[in-house]
Amino acid sequence: MFSKSLDRCYNIAKLRERAQKRMPAAMFHYIDGAAGDEWTMRQNTSAFDRWELVPHFLVDVSEIDMRTKVFGQEISMPFFCSPTAMSRLFHHHGETGVARAAHRAGTLYSLSSISTESIEEAAAATEGPKVFQVYVFKDRGLNREFIQRCKDSGYAALALTVDVPIAGNRERDLVTGMTIPPKLTAATLFNFAMHPRWVWNYFTHKPIELANVRDRISGDVTTLVSFFNDQLDRTVSWDDAEWMIKEWGGPFAIKGIMCADDARRAAEVGATAVVISNHGGRQLDTSPAPIEILPEVVDAVGGKLEIILEGGVRRGVHVMKALALGATVCAAGRPYLFGLGAGGEAGVDRALEILKTDIERDMRLLGCRNVSEIDASRVREIPR
Ligand SMILES: Cc1cc2nc3c(=O)[nH]c(=O)nc-3n(C[C@H](O)[C@H](O)[C@H](O)COP(=O)(O)O)c2cc1C
Repeated sequence: MFSKSLDRCYNIAKLRERAQKRMPAAMFHYIDGAAGDEWTMRQNTSAFDRWELVPHFLVDVSEIDMRTKVFGQEISMPFFCSPTAMSRLFHHHGETGVARAAHRAGTLYSLSSISTESIEEAAAATEGPKVFQVYVFKDRGLNREFIQRCKDSGYAALALTVDVPIAGNRERDLVTGMTIPPKLTAATLFNFAMHPRWVWNYFTHKPIELANVRDRISGDVTTLVSFFNDQLDRTVSWDDAEWMIKEWGGPFAIKGIMCADDARRAAEVGATAVVISNHGGRQLDTSPAPIEILPEVVDAVGGKLEIILEGGVRRGVHVMKALALGATVCAAGRPYLFGLGAGGEAGVDRALEILKTDIERDMRLLGCRNVSEIDASRVREIPR
């Protein structure tokens, strides 16, 4: 049972509206915004319209099995939570709240390198399977440390994000004056004053910090741009990915793959999965939508690697199209972050319930009793 207002959020767009009302502008636009003109972010969802779904009828769909497997873990639906930075900025329930909600929904949670709760805190919050997302810091000792800490804490997989050699051009953050931690200035004071509940929670809970690296970084980390540009290592190469895959020795994804060549390379260096992703349009604006790249990646590495489609997934029909085109599973960040901003942990529960209910309904309407039946026969490209 959800509160009446969360109940009334019957889709992700409605959760987004509610999140906007409940969060200060800097926090909302940090989630909602993207790079440059935000063309890629819009395209991520609208490119799904290139395909239509083809239902098959007179199939007994009284029982639906939505379970699937990724990273060696069985999950309750073909969708999981992507890694996102600094969740406690949006609601004090933070990363551990999202991890608990993901576990309740029977799916995976991915923790960002730059989370506000640590690898160990997320592990202790729930027994649900977790992925740790790795950024390679200039302090290379941190990489070894991350791997060891994830092994000690029982993480199921690692995902190396490769699409942040530098920070993307996120202009909304410049407009709102987004800093880490948030600063009350003359310009932002009025907006913060309009959100007293958020301000109260912010000041009455533990301070915002980059929990995984709290004692290890120095220099300017007050904005995302300065953080990415000062702390992350731009020399990272395929050799480093290969080293990390060997050192980890378990399920490993390269996150941010946007072409067949890089997907092949990921297979060659020993990855077990690729995440087709443009970071939700937050890095290189005008890069293509993941769903457009999916067919060529499936041709290149389908059957060899797990293929995770991530970017713009907001409805069950998006998941249907991605699976029909050959993806193993889908993931997203903004839908559950809107839930978090809209209502904390209960809002994340609601976001995941919306997606799960949608996926189940669409499988029935499509005539698919299990995930493997969502195949190429169920999708057709609209002639251009
Ligand atoms: C607020 C926010 C923070 C993010 N932080 C990270 C991060 O720390 N590491 C990472 O690999 N991806 C990060 N991402 C990208 C997501 O993992 C994912 O690629 C993106 O959300 C997909 O787009 P969608 O959520 O619009 O579908 C972030 C995305 C958002 C919206």
